[in-house]
Amino acid sequence: MKGVILAAGQGTRLRPVTLTMPKPLVPVANKPLIGYALDVLKSAGIDEIAIIVNDLSSPVAGAIGDGAAYGVRVEYIVQEKQLGLAHAIGMSQPFVGDEPFCVLLGDNIFQDKMTSLLKSFPESKVESTIALIEVPDPERFGVAVVDNGKIVRLMEKPNPAPTNLAISGAYLFRKSIFDAIANIKPSKRGELEITDAIQYLVESGQPVSPYVLQGWWIDAGKPDAIIQANQLVMGDMPYTPPPNGASMIVGKCDISHRVIIGEGTQIIDSVIRGPVIIGNNVTIRNSFVGPYSAIGDNVIIESSEIDSSIVMKNCTVRHIEGRIDASLMADNSTLTSDGHVPASHRFILAENSYVQL
Ligand code: G1P
Repeated sequence: MKGVILAAGQGTRLRPVTLTMPKPLVPVANKPLIGYALDVLKSAGIDEIAIIVNDLSSPVAGAIGDGAAYGVRVEYIVQEKQLGLAHAIGMSQPFVGDEPFCVLLGDNIFQDKMTSLLKSFPESKVESTIALIEVPDPERFGVAVVDNGKIVRLMEKPNPAPTNLAISGAYLFRKSIFDAIANIKPSKRGELEITDAIQYLVESGQPVSPYVLQGWWIDAGKPDAIIQANQLVMGDMPYTPPPNGASMIVGKCDISHRVIIGEGTQIIDSVIRGPVIIGNNVTIRNSFVGPYSAIGDNVIIESSEIDSSIVMKNCTVRHIEGRIDASLMADNSTLTSDGHVPASHRFILAENSYVQL
């Protein structure tokens, strides 16, 4: 069994963050998004993985490399033009060969690691299995109709949707999917849809089974979804006692359980309420960092309050009045108040930035 992770999308819905950082590397609980897909495959014993990228010089290849840090072997396939998920999967045919394989969308996070499903698929009698989940807004997704334990129909973003069973980003295939992909036409949005290729399998009489995901699932394509994913992942953090690396905790601090603190990080006269993850070489002084906050490496937070937010590496937050809540700061951002009277606001914002005062 092999694994294929799709990570060639441009991440336009996640701008401005993705203007400088590809979506698969956006950190959730201080781990790149794509790391969650690698973990799903690795925990099912799948260690031969291809990642589809849009350019070999993509920072994704730089960050994940040969996969050794994740305990897997990774190779890269370049999809120069984003012609759809089915097109991307079609490109993996030489890598996959005759083996069954699991495809994961690189921007999805699954609470359900699907380990027994992935392990049992090669010996199963079905041609394909698709992970589904009930959602309140199925029109935003591919949707499946299930009858008698089988998928009988699939549609890409139907409106109205006939069921609330969305197609999530986990698919199990055999080599028959390549023939199906070769037989479909681009959709209205001009893409080769994997949903249409699976529908082709169904119409040609091949058994396609549903797998209903347990727990939460996030398609982390938009800033709000990234923040939500961060909260959900950190909500699953196991209990750890309050850290007591005394030399790094200075002055009057109050640090709760479920707080992970990196190396070289100093907490000075501050309150930290877990679950919180703080990277390496961070300084937090005279501040409050609240639940579901992930603070990247080399960040400085002074005289400020932060809750439920992602602060990526090399950011500075100083003297901000009022609480910073559910926010996303990309690498090297600065948020500061200079104490000028009369009070004024000054912004330098990238395209599609969002500020709420
Ligand atoms: C894609 C698939 C869709 C699926 C969704 C899951 O949609 O086409 O069937 O439900 O991923 O995230 P897209 O993100 O390309 O709109």
